[in-house]
Amino acid sequence: MKLVKLLANLGYGSRKDVQRTIRSGSVTDLDGNVLGDSDLPPVETILFKGEPLDPPFPLVLVMHKPEGYTCSTDDSGDTIYDLLPNRFSLRNPVLSSVGRLDKETTGMLLMTDDGKLLHRLISPKHHVPKVYQVTLDRPLEGHEAELFASGTLVLRGEEQPLLPAVMEATGEKEARITLEEGRYHQVRRMFAAAGNHVLELKRVAIGSLALDEELEPGEWRVLEPAELALITGNPVPAA
Ligand code: URA
Repeated sequence: MKLVKLLANLGYGSRKDVQRTIRSGSVTDLDGNVLGDSDLPPVETILFKGEPLDPPFPLVLVMHKPEGYTCSTDDSGDTIYDLLPNRFSLRNPVLSSVGRLDKETTGMLLMTDDGKLLHRLISPKHHVPKVYQVTLDRPLEGHEAELFASGTLVLRGEEQPLLPAVMEATGEKEARITLEEGRYHQVRRMFAAAGNHVLELKRVAIGSLALDEELEPGEWRVLEPAELALITGNPVPAA
């Protein structure tokens, strides 16, 4: 049952489905030897219908989220899961987005099946900076950076002040802002509190890792351990 369990957990089908596929001889090693239900060679040596298996737990993906997609599993419109193979939404443990970007926000999005890592990356306690590039409707007035850095700004409908955030003007109507928390529509609401309106919002970095410019909107790939280390600040263990 070992191989059956692995394949079912990776979303290749129900246990019954994958058992059938294994028994039909479609799961092999790299030399084409047919594997049985209880075999479990190293995951990277298993081929499912001739294709390498998806990486097992813990998986971390980086995606360039396009505009118009929600970070939700149960939205009737386009969701980030539509950009991945269907089996990725059937994985156990589940693959979740690390925090959310609004439907109209683009840029760097991480997804993982590792609950501990997810918590570490989104909890304000761990101070993982998230960097956004913002295009505004009106010119900056000059008071925004101080307001956002104050640690006293309370968003409408909330009681707890925001943690201090760093804002740098990058143009008359453009700014780069770094947050260590992720409240609902936070950047848009911060600029609304400063009397402006966000026209475009893109997440350009998480921790010290910038969005890979080679990833086009809608594209994704598995994150390298060294890249994850740039986000968590943890050194990569020697191979
Ligand atoms: N702040 C927002 O307003 N929206 C996002 O998607 C992320 C941060």
